[in-house]
Amino acid sequence: MKKITIAIDGHSSTGKSTVAKQIAAHLGYTYVDSGAMYRAVTLFAMQNNLISAADFKVNELIGSLHDLKIDFQFNPDLGFSEVYLNGTNVENQIRTLAVSSFVSQVAAIPEVRYQLVKQQRQIGEAKGVVMDGRDIGTVVFPNAEVKIFMTASAEVRAQRRFDELINRGDKVVFDEVLKNVKERDYIDSHRANSPLTKAEDAIVIDNSALTPEAQLNKILQIIQTALETKR
Ligand code: CDP
Ligand code: CDP
Repeated sequence: MKKITIAIDGHSSTGKSTVAKQIAAHLGYTYVDSGAMYRAVTLFAMQNNLISAADFKVNELIGSLHDLKIDFQFNPDLGFSEVYLNGTNVENQIRTLAVSSFVSQVAAIPEVRYQLVKQQRQIGEAKGVVMDGRDIGTVVFPNAEVKIFMTASAEVRAQRRFDELINRGDKVVFDEVLKNVKERDYIDSHRANSPLTKAEDAIVIDNSALTPEAQLNKILQIIQTALETKR
């Protein structure tokens, strides 16, 4: 059976990566968390004092992009790939609220996007890829055979992210998580370069009231139809 490209876009904490990992495991495809790449660049900027609440050295960050190597390595125990920054596994460090609070500003820099989109297209060249993000169906793979756009209410999404952070042991306040979710939605949807927007041919799934299992089944049906058309 021919391999296809599956693009999953949508707002923050809508369950994109959860379902993308399940689909990749089900089909034997490669899963790519494009948001992890923007988060890794943000972590690099924070570690090198290029970004803080007081200051944002955009030109220095752009200048140091060539020092930065992001890649994914499959973790057989977890069953999916984890992100590495200059050879170090940063999967945990990139998920903090501190990184979330700067990532949308970093992701709005055209030079950052150019570099990461180039790498994302290389990874997806051979097809058989499930990639989740904000611009996958619109910019990275506009010819993807399956495009899903996930959404849910901000409160539901913030609650999901809050639970996740608390379970990791992070000390966070619900209102701050909700504020971050709303702020990122706004910045991601209003930036000039590759804003978060539904591709014309994407199928919208509002999962506010869907369990992860129900949402997986719905998306697998859409993929099955696309695979039958492609055969
Ligand atoms: O997991 P969550 O939905 O909170 O975010 P993420 O997928 O890890 O993405 C973090 C941030 O990276 C987003 O809020 C966007 O600012 C940026 N991003 C992007 O601009 N384009 C993508 N393809 C993926 C993420
Ligand atoms: O990748 P994205 O930021 O869109 O979201 P995620 O990290 O996949 O999901 C955020 C949290 O929501 C996870 O803890 C999921 O288990 C949970 N979730 C849920 O409770 N119900 C859904 N229908 C989808 C995700």
